[in-house]
Amino acid sequence: MKSIERILLENKAWSKEKLMDDADFFKRLEKIQKPDFLWIGCSDSRVPANEVTNTDPGEMFVHRNIANMVVHTDLNLLSVLQYAVEVLEVKHVIVCGHYGCGGVRAALGNQSLGIINKWLRNIKDVYHNHRDEVDALGDIDIKTNRLVELNVMEQVTNLAKTSIIQHAWKHHNRPTLHGWVYSLSDGILKELYSMDESSGIDPIYQYDNP
Ligand code: CO
Repeated sequence: MKSIERILLENKAWSKEKLMDDADFFKRLEKIQKPDFLWIGCSDSRVPANEVTNTDPGEMFVHRNIANMVVHTDLNLLSVLQYAVEVLEVKHVIVCGHYGCGGVRAALGNQSLGIINKWLRNIKDVYHNHRDEVDALGDIDIKTNRLVELNVMEQVTNLAKTSIIQHAWKHHNRPTLHGWVYSLSDGILKELYSMDESSGIDPIYQYDNP
């Protein structure tokens, strides 16, 4: 059987299984989604948001891109963020990186890879700001993993620089921002960093009237 046929068959089996557990499962979700979480993760196939958090459909709003970036000109990410914060009223936004991230590793190299160069440039900028710390580490794997952590913290801070988050903090005291890293070797999420309405940011990024 072709792999594409297999996943369609698996879908039918999954739907049946869900209905056997809970006959109203799809009926309930059809009416409303009210997730508490927005997940911003890497597109890497080994880090599926729902699976690693054992959450069901309806529990997590998800955006994924290469290396879990929050780029302030990315209309896709910003639209997802605005909808999640202002319409769904999520309580938590999670930026989740993962050790061994291919995007972060590529950003540490010098090979030209085409259009993705422009995306990876944002990670090179994070490296540039922490060059001394990263360069002091040993081999490329250790450097990559530290840059994964630094990148997650930088992307959380990038969220705090948006007027979307600043507005929600000022008027609704939510959401809390979390920076996590997932380990491919044991499937465990590590909490690295968090920010909420009491966290300060560099005043140049703070809007008076967000
Ligand atoms: Co990755």
